[in-house]
Amino acid sequence: MLFKLTDEQLMIQAMVREFARKELAPTAAERDRTKDFPAANLKKMAELGLLGMAIPPEHGGEGADTISYVLALSEIAYSCAATAVVMSVHNSIVCESIDRFGSDAQKKRYLKPLAQGRIIGAFGLTEPHAGSDPSAQATTATRDGDVYFLNGSKRFTTTGRNSGLVIVTAKTDESVGHRGISAFILEKDFPGFTVGQDEDKMGLRASDTTDLLFDNCRVPAENLLGSEGDGFKLAMTALDSGRIGIAAQSVGVAQAAFDAAVKYAKSRDQFGRKISKFQGLRWMIADMATEIEAAKQLMLSAAAMKDRGENYTKQASMAKLFASEMVNRVTAQALQIHGGYGFTKDYPVERFYRDARVFTIYEGTSEIQRVVISNQILKDKRKP
Ligand code: CAA
Repeated sequence: MLFKLTDEQLMIQAMVREFARKELAPTAAERDRTKDFPAANLKKMAELGLLGMAIPPEHGGEGADTISYVLALSEIAYSCAATAVVMSVHNSIVCESIDRFGSDAQKKRYLKPLAQGRIIGAFGLTEPHAGSDPSAQATTATRDGDVYFLNGSKRFTTTGRNSGLVIVTAKTDESVGHRGISAFILEKDFPGFTVGQDEDKMGLRASDTTDLLFDNCRVPAENLLGSEGDGFKLAMTALDSGRIGIAAQSVGVAQAAFDAAVKYAKSRDQFGRKISKFQGLRWMIADMATEIEAAKQLMLSAAAMKDRGENYTKQASMAKLFASEMVNRVTAQALQIHGGYGFTKDYPVERFYRDARVFTIYEGTSEIQRVVISNQILKDKRKP
């Protein structure tokens, strides 16, 4: 293995694995059925420090490195992918953005409750007509004295309903494209802020995905995150980090599907022997293991670059692109190995297959990742 994990990273991984397999895995299928938000589990995760992993200790967080974070997130995803996406958005998009762009007062007010899980965070960027192209968003923020009035809506907001705080982007100047987008920290009880429809999704069903509606929503000017016009950059920076998280979720779900497929292949008899004896299946198992390992290495290399303070935009998109496509192949193969049983709810592989489907879509589709990767390559002025 290219990466030698430190004792501390291995300890965090082992601790989260034990917790997740004991506390999350046994109830994941039931949550998928009922769509119950994992509030009690998130509380326990906060006690383990999993909701403030990157937050500095002076603000109540763990100050953990990104490698520890992705190892932890993969373990949560292995046991419950719906819980993992809540953890991912909360840590890497919300907490990190406030830590990076927030004023001292904002950090003091929000980071500790976020780390303690007293508030779960969400991020509102996507709109009904602005998904891959967030610069086309229509939500506006108009300043009047020390208040901004937000008008518009957001779509597909992870944890839109169950969050206590949402970072929302809106146009403060409509004449300058993406440079006129600003970001705001909205508390749920701000007047004029309501949660709209919940999506009825194919997978990740215990994680709510909602519309957010702003009707002259009053936001104190002190809740502007960064300066006016910083919103697009803030979102891109947050997504770089978030995309390593999607790679981690992909690796976790793929590993769960793979382990289930190997277990099934070793127990199922056909033609008088275990199906694991057939070369057709053995080659599938070898390919799946190789793909998971490749995705893991990309995930770790992006995380290591981030930890070293290097520009990791390209690596994060590569990790997201490869890992999210990998998990779709691996869960499909794992289901195939289960035969007809894989198509039923008797085995968890059917849920893994459904949960994985959105990984090539959210936080930037595979097509957008290819745009980011090629942009990074072609703008590089160093000689090839
Ligand atoms: N870090 C910092 N700044 C960045 C950046 C990065 N990774 N990428 C771009 N920027 C900056 C550029 O430097 C540029 O700044 P200046 O104008 O000041 O020079 C500015 O952003 C615009 O850059 P581009 O011209 O490259 O931007 P673009 O309009 O061509 O679009 C894009 C780039 C990659 C397509 C981008 O729009 C994108 O990532 N789209 C996908 C959005 C996405 O992933 N949406 C899913 C959100 S997930 C969600 O909403 C659900 C949830 O619950 C989390």
